[in-house]
Amino acid sequence: MKEWVQKENLHRHIAMIMDGNGRWAKRKRRPRLFGHRAGVETFKKIVRICSDMGIQVLTVYAFSTENWKRSEEEVSGLMSLALTYLKKYVAELHENNVVLKIIGDISKLNATLQKEILRSEAMTAQNTGMILQIALNYGGREELINAVKNMMLDGLKGSEITEKTLNGYLYTKNVPDPDMMIRTGGEKRLSNFLLWQNAYTEFFFTETLWPDFSKKELEEMIEAYTQRERRYGGIQ
Ligand code: IPE
Ligand code: IPE
Ligand code: MG
Repeated sequence: MKEWVQKENLHRHIAMIMDGNGRWAKRKRRPRLFGHRAGVETFKKIVRICSDMGIQVLTVYAFSTENWKRSEEEVSGLMSLALTYLKKYVAELHENNVVLKIIGDISKLNATLQKEILRSEAMTAQNTGMILQIALNYGGREELINAVKNMMLDGLKGSEITEKTLNGYLYTKNVPDPDMMIRTGGEKRLSNFLLWQNAYTEFFFTETLWPDFSKKELEEMIEAYTQRERRYGGIQ
């Protein structure tokens, strides 16, 4: 393990918005799904790298609550990519001691995919290595609304609602907030990703389109992170 991974809290939590697959495909004059397939390959590579680096939690944005606005063809293509990924690669994740979690409102996904998600999560639940959270039909606002609803259903009183209680009702319960948030593809926005959890996260943006994102660039970002001063509202 490299020295910078051990330093400070680097080994904790990295979140990634894997953006730019469509443009990557367009540049190659290929359909958008060709870009998404290439994106899955990059994702698999990055998972291995992060797990080898000793990162504790990796959270990736795969499909947002807003992505349903895309064509039927693209949406069903993305869903079938997710299903194929789970079917083919969960065994490998399991071998690498990774804990897989899907975050988001999975009740809106088709029944086969939901079943595969539950099977994959159950298979890896007892592992002790990196936690891999894949955000599927995830939206930060939906997550908060869902948390509030569940707190009400559980009959919580106003006085019982603290940051800690709310945290416990989020899809990301039990994991620390992200230390770094990386967005590829050039856009500089959150697009409804981890709104609550990113309160004090350090952001990194790159023009690189997701299928081209490399180990080298990730290492450079991690290195740059070590230079940042996290003050959390205090004075150095
Ligand atoms: C990100 O790539 C992947 C998903 C949203 C599923 P895009 O599909 O948004 O790619 P661009 O932004 O159009 O290039
Ligand atoms: C964010 O990318 C969602 C994912 C990467 C899954 P989008 O491409 O959907 O975001 P916008 O539309 O540019 O904000
Ligand atoms: Mg995009």
